[in-house]
Amino acid sequence: MRLDKLLGQSGYGSRNQVKKLIRSRQVYVDGVLADRDNLNVDASLQTIMVSGKELEHAPEVYYLMNKPSGVVSARKDKEHQTVIDLIRPEDRREGLYPVGRLDRDTEGLVLITNNGPLGFAMLHPRYHVAKTYYVEVNDILGPDAPAFFESGVVFEDGTVCQSAQLEILSSASDKSCARITISEGKFHQVKKMFLAYGVKVTYLKRISFGEFKLDEGMAVGSYRTLTEAEKTILRTYLG
Ligand code: URA
Repeated sequence: MRLDKLLGQSGYGSRNQVKKLIRSRQVYVDGVLADRDNLNVDASLQTIMVSGKELEHAPEVYYLMNKPSGVVSARKDKEHQTVIDLIRPEDRREGLYPVGRLDRDTEGLVLITNNGPLGFAMLHPRYHVAKTYYVEVNDILGPDAPAFFESGVVFEDGTVCQSAQLEILSSASDKSCARITISEGKFHQVKKMFLAYGVKVTYLKRISFGEFKLDEGMAVGSYRTLTEAEKTILRTYLG
């Protein structure tokens, strides 16, 4: 991140105030006087001194977003808006990324953080983090469907999925609604599981991820900071 941006985010004032600070020879990076605002720095790797005081490592942030369809769950994308683009400038931090991926046309819960190890831990198969989705499909979900998902769906290419729990909410020949809970994260997993049953997913929304749930009535595209209680839960993943 640029030095001026980092200092701005660390409470050293507006862009102009930060520029003045740098020009007045108050800022050192690893013991070397910083002579440019646009110097690329990394506060987790370098020691940054401002007016004789060490810059504290920016605290980690945790956001829970209701991702809209059409937005990519990635840091950057050449063509499409990303979940990071939806974060307000004042909430942006260096290294923000979404924990796991949802398809571009999938809505729902995404955790976003700048805590690097968290994503790795939460997505590690060891934790079997349960993810629940609300699903709409284009055909009937028969009484045989829950057992079909429970017994471990097998894809065309032979991939075997772990047992998944299906709860049918409504069923008709043109549209059925259900909730499904899976404990792994294969590519397009939910869509492929329903295809294996013989129906096509027409709408998909993640409503929970581990202990985290989408808030009732949370506007699509909005996000909020995790509560202290929710942050405590995260510690179980970080060991
Ligand atoms: N399964 C899918 O098919 N798509 C998603 O976005 C998430 C799970």
